[in-house]
Amino acid sequence: MIIKLVVNGAQTTVDIAPGTRLLDLLRDRMGLIGTKEACGRGDCGACTVLVGDRAVPSCLVLAARTDGPVRTVEGIAADASALREAFADRGGLQCGYCTPGLVVRAHQLIESGECDTSEGDAVRRALAGNFCRCTGYNAVIAAVQHAAAGRAAPDGA
Ligand code: FES
Ligand code: FES
Repeated sequence: MIIKLVVNGAQTTVDIAPGTRLLDLLRDRMGLIGTKEACGRGDCGACTVLVGDRAVPSCLVLAARTDGPVRTVEGIAADASALREAFADRGGLQCGYCTPGLVVRAHQLIESGECDTSEGDAVRRALAGNFCRCTGYNAVIAAVQHAAAGRAAPDGA
């Protein structure tokens, strides 16, 4: 079947099998390998991408049913540069496998203003769907809070 969708700002037309997951389309057909697969069943958040303004597990989304423009970790790289730097500077990543999904989810969190990022517990709850086996999360939370604070006060005020 032929589908059309927008990925990282570009209109794309692809011929896919009907059951193709968005994750596989992104990784195997489009070369966007920043999006990772771990559990493959919606539990871990490694495959998180943005569809419209929502952060979704791309392993659970059929490519043909994708109902909005898709942004992957590659697509948000420029907008999330401060967030990515904060992850690196504050020890928010170790092996890095979970990092693209966490960065996408955290970027959506900061952009949406859907939680009080000054509250560490609120950030922790918001990121609860993104598993990390390495960091223990404290550094991840600190990185997200640092980036969120910088965004709120870009002049360092
Ligand atoms: S690989 Fe999609 S949620 Fe784990
Ligand atoms: S940094 Fe290794 S799983 Fe998160």
